[in-house]
Amino acid sequence: MPSGPDNTHVIVFANEKGGTGKSTTAVHVAIALAAKGARVACLDLDHRQRTVGRYLDNRAATIKRTGQDLPMPVHATHTAQTEAAFEELWGQLSAGADYLVVDTPGRDDPFARTAAALSDTLVTPMNDSFVDFDLIGQVDPETYKVTRPSFYAELIWDARKQRARADGTTIDWVVLRNRLQHIEARNMRRVQDALGQLAKRVGFRLIPGLGERVIYRELFPAGLTMIDAKAFGQMGLGHVAARQELREMMAALALPEPALPLFADAGAA
Ligand SMILES: Nc1ncnc2c1ncn2[C@@H]1O[C@H](COP(=O)(O)OP(=O)(O)OP(=O)(O)O)[C@@H](O)[C@H]1O
Ligand SMILES: [Mg+2]
Repeated sequence: MPSGPDNTHVIVFANEKGGTGKSTTAVHVAIALAAKGARVACLDLDHRQRTVGRYLDNRAATIKRTGQDLPMPVHATHTAQTEAAFEELWGQLSAGADYLVVDTPGRDDPFARTAAALSDTLVTPMNDSFVDFDLIGQVDPETYKVTRPSFYAELIWDARKQRARADGTTIDWVVLRNRLQHIEARNMRRVQDALGQLAKRVGFRLIPGLGERVIYRELFPAGLTMIDAKAFGQMGLGHVAARQELREMMAALALPEPALPLFADAGAA
């Protein structure tokens, strides 16, 4: 199993359910950290879709085209099939990085499992839907009370045990509610209640993620995020609100500050 230098904080985005917002959230977190002056490396394990890789390629092209000095994480996509190649790439990316941000495919994948076991923070984005919820827990159809954890919660449980055995450390498992609606709905409350029950039972933290906004889909071709204020020109009210929810998500993730070196331009965001 590969291991990076101890001072690299590994954040893995994982959910075997597809389309829950792993890649979108991963890119936003990586860029928000880079904007604070941290050294950020991204590893895309989804070599078919390569959303994070393509997002950051688009960003590099925007920087080149406009000459703007935007915070830019380094990134690579894992395309090989061997453990040895995976370990090598993992080592290269984590060397000198304060944070390694790893995106994984929305399906069972051996490298995603390894990455989960190596994570310090494991983020599972999900939508407010019992279809998404079903992977981590089952509910009673009449009362919506949680009846039992599902296979994905068990898989993470195993990853945590594996990690504790390997180096005695714990994985901070965070379930992040993506695409939150701005109007209060009955389904939203039910999913929230069920998540609250399950959080206590299987030991994850529940945090709010990005809201449901078209802007998160529109920014992909230019590789921008809400914190790239200077690339936006004038910011509309929606942009300001979106930037605020991104900041709240970052605060709720409660990632450790990098030990050394001190942030180059702290507060730039
Ligand atoms: N907060 C949001 N608001 C609006 N659209 C969103 C939001 N988050 C994600 N999306 C859209 O939802 C779709 C799925 O998001 P994304 O690709 O990030 O999920 P994923 O979990 O990485 O998917 P996969 O499992 O296929 O890799 C994309 O079209 C994305 O633009
Ligand atoms: Mg993805």
